[in-house]
Amino acid sequence: MSLIGKNIVIGVCGSIAAYKIATLVRLLTKEGAKVKVLMTHEATHFITPLTLSTLSNNPVFVDYFDEKTGEWNNHVHIGLEADILLFAPLTANTLGKLANGLCDNLLTAVYLSAKCPVFYAPAMDLDMWKHPSTIRNISSLNSYGNIMIPPGEGELASGLIGEGRLAEPAEILSHLTSFFENGDALKGKTALVTAGPTHEAIDPVRFIGNHSSGKMGYAIAQRLKELGATVTLISGPTALEHPQGVDTIAVTSAQEMFEKTEACFEQSDIIVMSAAVADYTPQTVADQKIKKKEDTFSIDMKKTIDILATLGKRKRDNQVLIGFALETNNELENAKAKLVKKNLDFIVLNSMQDIGAGFAKDTNKITIITQNGKEQVFALKSKMEVAKDICQIIVEHLAKS
Ligand code: CTP
Repeated sequence: MSLIGKNIVIGVCGSIAAYKIATLVRLLTKEGAKVKVLMTHEATHFITPLTLSTLSNNPVFVDYFDEKTGEWNNHVHIGLEADILLFAPLTANTLGKLANGLCDNLLTAVYLSAKCPVFYAPAMDLDMWKHPSTIRNISSLNSYGNIMIPPGEGELASGLIGEGRLAEPAEILSHLTSFFENGDALKGKTALVTAGPTHEAIDPVRFIGNHSSGKMGYAIAQRLKELGATVTLISGPTALEHPQGVDTIAVTSAQEMFEKTEACFEQSDIIVMSAAVADYTPQTVADQKIKKKEDTFSIDMKKTIDILATLGKRKRDNQVLIGFALETNNELENAKAKLVKKNLDFIVLNSMQDIGAGFAKDTNKITIITQNGKEQVFALKSKMEVAKDICQIIVEHLAKS
């Protein structure tokens, strides 16, 4: 029960998703949290303050000034007492205000004076979510160190289908719980994570790549950070936002990924290599765009350096080295062979035969194999949850060593 006695202040904005906050408040209070709710005027059209004050067992504040009691709602006081300030649902409007320091209601004033960690769970229609101004505002909030609980995909109130739906109350609860659990389990540790594909240039306009989205590695980097580690993420080309608080180094080719990874290896305690590194790269890169001529065309390729195997040879006893194996057949056998060959502490096996696992998906299904051959099979989960499982194994391993 990591939420017992925690002061959680929820800022509710005017979105139809505000109805989910009743369930969230209930879940949080059941976990022992002390919940205070602040609402914008617009939010009160979607759910009543009476519902939320009854469930939270606390008065709900909407205005700076309570006309009935004559009391001034001291926003500094609310912000300072909170262990967590959570905006849920966060609308595009309030997001814009938070990103730009506007302060025209109680919620925005509390935000500006809060000293505690701030979480935010956006809810908006698909087009709003994808608008460049939303993208810019989200990245501002992330740069202030605020933590996003990402929206889910599915049917939206407008009838559109896509991203933008407020995360489910149980998911929001799990983010907050895991923030308090093991909050500093990896404090003082340095972690290095590789993620994404590599692009191997053929000529100035073409490359050889793969379908890796980088989502798994980014989730691991974020989780390691949440657990208190100092994290460097070496990322191949992806469309993902850099995880907040993580030193992200962008690379393109396998060779570049090797050079940056090698430079960080010595000072790293935890090394997780989740990148889908190209095994071969063109022997030569054409200076000019290759013109279409013959009916068939082939490229001479040479092996890239196996980053993981190279680092495995240099690994010290006090370093934890984790590799990934994406397999289509003879999965366990192949993964175990890689674990030995590359001198790893653990290997995370993804089987392409598992529905919901693999490249560019939001979910993954893994088996973790340890040096003594122990296999731990996990259920299909979101990549964020999978990252938690992997990091938990790291925490337990370090605690034993
Ligand atoms: N890896 C690496 N450098 C490479 C190739 C792979 O560091 N040049 C790492 C990956 O990041 C992953 C692990 O090695 O953690 C296994 O990658 P995978 O592609 O499954 O295996 P390979 O060793 O490349 O073998 P194969 O492609 O033949 O299955």
